[in-house]
Amino acid sequence: MSGQFRPELAELISYHTPQQPEGDKLDANELPYDLPEWFKSKLVFVSEQMVRANRYPDSDPVLLRQQVAQYCHVKAQQVCLGNGSDELIRSVIIAACLGGRGAVLSAEPTFGMYRILAETLGVPYIALGRDEAFGIDPDALHAAVLHQGVRVIFLANPNSPTATMLAEPVLRSLRALPEDVLVVLDEAYYEFSGFTCASWIADWPNLIILRTFSKAFRLASYRVGYALARPEIIQVLDKTRLPYNLPAVSQLAATLAMEHRSELLSVIPELLTERDRVATSLQELPDLRLWPSSANFLYVRSTQYEPESMRAMLAERGTLIRASGGGLRVTIGTPAENDKLLVNFASLY
Ligand SMILES: Cc1ncc(COP(=O)(O)O)c(C=O)c1O
Repeated sequence: MSGQFRPELAELISYHTPQQPEGDKLDANELPYDLPEWFKSKLVFVSEQMVRANRYPDSDPVLLRQQVAQYCHVKAQQVCLGNGSDELIRSVIIAACLGGRGAVLSAEPTFGMYRILAETLGVPYIALGRDEAFGIDPDALHAAVLHQGVRVIFLANPNSPTATMLAEPVLRSLRALPEDVLVVLDEAYYEFSGFTCASWIADWPNLIILRTFSKAFRLASYRVGYALARPEIIQVLDKTRLPYNLPAVSQLAATLAMEHRSELLSVIPELLTERDRVATSLQELPDLRLWPSSANFLYVRSTQYEPESMRAMLAERGTLIRASGGGLRVTIGTPAENDKLLVNFASLY
């Protein structure tokens, strides 16, 4: 294989989610509830009516863009749809950094795809550290951006795996960066945090907001995400995405989800109550440290166990969670799954 590919790819590992045994899937920050039966039946019905398998899907589903715009209180020209927000992360890096134009920066621990997508595209990736509370030092951020040729900053808000929010001074310092540095705030968990910077795209010219249908809207398997930004940025992202990036059924699923959003999102208050219940119980265990969560998952560290061994012991007991960034990320499940999770955690002490 020598000579065929870029040599640096030999060092990279393909993206695989770890093979897990049978158990409660609390490892991917999905909602524990499948779509309601009435929603599924409606989706099957409209798919039969509308989808012609031999035809390419709509390359620009205007109705869906309009629905998303209405949901986010922006204009349709400020929306770009992607095959999951993963595709949009890649489009931003392609548009801003390829050809030796500059680096991607994020603050770790964070969502792994920022690094993976930068590295597979041959773009330098700079990882800032975080403090004890997973906060970011605005001065270190500024210095790294100005001295290391950063073109794009990706910050998840709330962050994964830590579930923490960006502090106000960090947002202010991002706002003060030069216009030729793109600031991407990834709001994959917006529906749980209730906090968004989407309204700022009107007067923050280098801001991009990313969102997804994979979490609160329960459409992870359909792969739909979107970016919000001013129209000039959206036009560039449109050039770098693949032509038929959204399968027809995914477009229909997202359209239906927008139409029925109040029904789909109605489970969120109950989920957040469950999160707080799980957090309170985990906090009672002798050596677990928890951070405040603004999402549908919790981040914990143990002083007694390595994250990987704790993950494996819980998996043996039927609770599947994720070891990440030196700790454990625990997705909130159904009340029964959460009860079992608490029993399994307690059994380790
Ligand atoms: C912060 C963050 N951004 C983006 C994504 C990916 O979303 P999508 O399924 O839309 O590609 C995830 C998925 O876990 C995430 O945690």
